[in-house]
Amino acid sequence: MINQRTRLAHILKPVAYRSYSSVTSNIVGNYEGTKNERGNYIATMIPGNGIGPEISEAVIKIFKAAKVPIEWETVEVAPIIENGKAVIPKPAYDSIMKTKIALKGPLMTPIGKGFMSLNLLLRKTFNLYANVRPCKSIPGYKTLYNNVDTVLIRENTEGEYSGIEHEVVKGVMQSIKLITYEASLRVARFAFEHAISTGRNHVTVVHKASIMKVSDGLFLKACDDAAKEYPQVTLERAVLDRVCLQIVQNPDIYAKTVMVMPNLYGDILSDMCAGLIGGLGLTPSGNIGKDASIFESVHGTAPDIAGKNLANPTALILSSCMMLSHMNLRDYAERISNATLSTIAEGKVLTGDLGGNSSTTEFTEAIIHNL
Ligand SMILES: NC(=O)c1ccc[n+]([C@@H]2O[C@H](COP(=O)([O-])OP(=O)(O)OC[C@H]3O[C@@H](n4cnc5c(N)ncnc54)[C@H](O)[C@@H]3O)[C@@H](O)[C@H]2O)c1
Repeated sequence: MINQRTRLAHILKPVAYRSYSSVTSNIVGNYEGTKNERGNYIATMIPGNGIGPEISEAVIKIFKAAKVPIEWETVEVAPIIENGKAVIPKPAYDSIMKTKIALKGPLMTPIGKGFMSLNLLLRKTFNLYANVRPCKSIPGYKTLYNNVDTVLIRENTEGEYSGIEHEVVKGVMQSIKLITYEASLRVARFAFEHAISTGRNHVTVVHKASIMKVSDGLFLKACDDAAKEYPQVTLERAVLDRVCLQIVQNPDIYAKTVMVMPNLYGDILSDMCAGLIGGLGLTPSGNIGKDASIFESVHGTAPDIAGKNLANPTALILSSCMMLSHMNLRDYAERISNATLSTIAEGKVLTGDLGGNSSTTEFTEAIIHNL
């Protein structure tokens, strides 16, 4: 008779960490860090605000228990204004430029006023042009759907998030959606590379060119041009509202493709997909760029539960697995993601957002036990 552990390993096999894999790409600088004299890589840790320090601590403990060959360089990212512009604090900038790889907790952004989003600033500063957001149903954690398996790639540097906003005349504000061929082509190529390296071999470009004929039209053109370089991958166009409708009716339709889209669409659609698998506490992401790559959970600082040892660290843990796979430390990534998913599938030690009553610390210890 197979025991509980073997049974879970069997259930989880198809989930395997490949879903949370990053990409081995010919167009994005692959990770080229070297080990130090102690045989470890150095990675930057940005604990962030709110629940950030608690969930970062969970990752640090799990990496230690799994003997991952990484030493953390911990830095804070708080807004600094230089010559009227927000900049990343120098120690954080220097660390990321040196290590080329970072794990980031959520950062607080003031709404409707104040400094520019530090998340945006990090993406712009390090040219993190592709935001990879996988969402996969977690076996054993019951939601309305058990067949979600989406991979979404969001253009990360321009579009509606270009930060170009002004008052035209009193009572009339204008926000500019900037789409360039160059940025669209590089993210499109990235999507094709990702499709090949994850075995999907199909790319769906999500757009609203029916309305934004010029800007989204250019994004479509860039995707068409990229497709010519990857004849083994098929390209399909899909209108954003139709995609939203179809995903909530039958997520299976998007389980065999890699979706690529302009910035705002990707932000909203990925949160919608997260909702289908049980919430923001479960969804990881990677910001991949030429100068560095920064991995982070999709959720925010959760101020309502911060400092109470209640946060679910899964999203940051799975983001750290994406980071490990990007660093070619795939065995560690697989072991940690499987231990995390087994803990959820067992259903005995769960945080409040997953319907349990365990603390962040208890959940982390259960994962370590399952390593
Ligand atoms: N990448 C980022 O750093 C990032 C992303 C989104 C929001 N934010 C910032 O976070 C702050 C709060 O944003 P918000 O309240 O809109 O969204 P949020 O994601 O922080 O919280 C939304 C809800 O989800 C819950 N939640 C989120 N993560 C959880 C986790 N790991 N475990 C359990 N429950 C979790 C929260 O308790 C809250 O009820 C804002 O300043 C926002 O700008 C940062």
